[in-house]
Amino acid sequence: MSFKEDLLKMFVTENEIPAEFNLPHEIHQRSYLCNGEMKEWNGNVHTVLSPICIQTPEGLKRKIIGTYPVCTETEALEALDAAVTAYNNGRGEWPTMNVANRIKCVEEFTRKMIAQKDIVVKLIMWEIGKSYADSVKEFDRTVEYIYATIDALKDIDRQSSRFEIEQGIVAQIRRSPLGVVLCMGPFNYPLNETFTTLIPAIIMGNTLLFKPPKHGTLLHYPLLKAFQESFPKGVVNTIYGRGHTIIPSLMESGKINVLTLIGSSKVADQLKKMHPKVNRLRAILGLDAKNAAIITQKADLKLAVNETILGSLSFNGQRCTALKIIFVHQSVADAFIEQLNIAVAGLKYGMPWEKGVSLTPLPEAHKPAYLKECIDDAVANGAKVMNEHGGTVAESFVYPAVVYPVNSKMKLYREEQFGPVIPVVRFTDIEEPVQYLIDSTHGQQVSIFSNDTEETAQLIDPLVNQVSRVNLNCQCQRGPDTFPFTGRKDSAEGTLSVVDALRSFSIRSLVATKLNENNKQLINDIVNSHQSNFLSTKFIF
Ligand code: G3H
Repeated sequence: MSFKEDLLKMFVTENEIPAEFNLPHEIHQRSYLCNGEMKEWNGNVHTVLSPICIQTPEGLKRKIIGTYPVCTETEALEALDAAVTAYNNGRGEWPTMNVANRIKCVEEFTRKMIAQKDIVVKLIMWEIGKSYADSVKEFDRTVEYIYATIDALKDIDRQSSRFEIEQGIVAQIRRSPLGVVLCMGPFNYPLNETFTTLIPAIIMGNTLLFKPPKHGTLLHYPLLKAFQESFPKGVVNTIYGRGHTIIPSLMESGKINVLTLIGSSKVADQLKKMHPKVNRLRAILGLDAKNAAIITQKADLKLAVNETILGSLSFNGQRCTALKIIFVHQSVADAFIEQLNIAVAGLKYGMPWEKGVSLTPLPEAHKPAYLKECIDDAVANGAKVMNEHGGTVAESFVYPAVVYPVNSKMKLYREEQFGPVIPVVRFTDIEEPVQYLIDSTHGQQVSIFSNDTEETAQLIDPLVNQVSRVNLNCQCQRGPDTFPFTGRKDSAEGTLSVVDALRSFSIRSLVATKLNENNKQLINDIVNSHQSNFLSTKFIF
């Protein structure tokens, strides 16, 4: 039996899916949230196919999970109107609500979200093929992120609940909302990464248009009621449909104040240019990345191998922070590859619900063919697939390939493969990987593997100015979520961390006056009569 045939056996029949991991039924979404209502949809729908195939008498078929609306420009513009009206030029109920009450709404939403955990986690797994364990982690991490956001906002608000006096001027400085936010998340963390922008955007008093990711759409459906019940009408509005049909008119309207997107720099560039007044548009973007690992002669190879596996193959390499190119010193290259191959061979592949599974089917239909194209191109330019069965494709599944030696002629040298392929480049002079990072269009993170103090120190200083995070003897990653997550060049715009995101989705406004008896009296009267939510010394406990 060929390895491909062996791989195909990982897919099971409908009856063999363990009941506790199966969806209770297909989910056919026929409504969407707009202006506080779940509006009915009777138009076109998109059929959601899982990356997980099912053995049927007619052969392997991607399991049908359900359908969702493919709305048009008309519904998108209605949602825009709802968000604009709810914001009401900053005079709406939500943007003027005090922070304590906004926090209460988000807390209520979170309670209702937690009640939907079971179905949301299953949908993450079925829609994008993420292992069940990682799907649970994604959900829990998101809930933790929301609570951390609430705590961070309380802190910010406490610091703002006092007056500052400088040069005879007294002022109260607070963070205030920006307006209407268009929020789009990625498929690889369809819940978590979407919510790391959506929640800070809402909690700061903005109103929202939210387009769920292309893969990972249905998992948001069970949360729509929670949004509807937790926030005033028009604060959260969903838009469904093909991006190229519904997004241009939103941007061209000039009514979007903030664009937040985790996706490709190409799309972000196009969208920004559609806005008639780019200076009025704030962009908070998490974009492409091609994070490199640099493994020097002085590295602990075992550690470097373990971290390379985690960095390049967690969720099949579909992380923006994944290690997507590995530079290894030629003196240790053979040993590194040998150990890497053993580690890859030890990874369990299979269905996402299987215990301990690392490698699972891929959600993007074109991905297996694209990865094969990258591997073929590397082979045509002098590289080899070093591990047994590397690159074998079985329907939606791709077995990881260690490709070596990669050089600048190959696609894998520059393109973000976003899948289970590990390109390894051999270097003799440390200047080679440093120059690679200088020439790269990306600038998110790098991982250095070395135990030599001088060598490590000399790499840190040039590299912190190429990327936004230098990881020592460990893989690249976003977390902990309190650390700044950003990138240089085409990798990001703005910074996301629990606190930074609150800053990104708001602007400081202040009320200031000359400190004289008349103004002292005026300020005291306003504060004591609690007539303003902004000019207030209320302290959130
Ligand atoms: O896809 C990019 C994510 O932000 C990566 O997050 O490093 O925690 O997996 P992570």
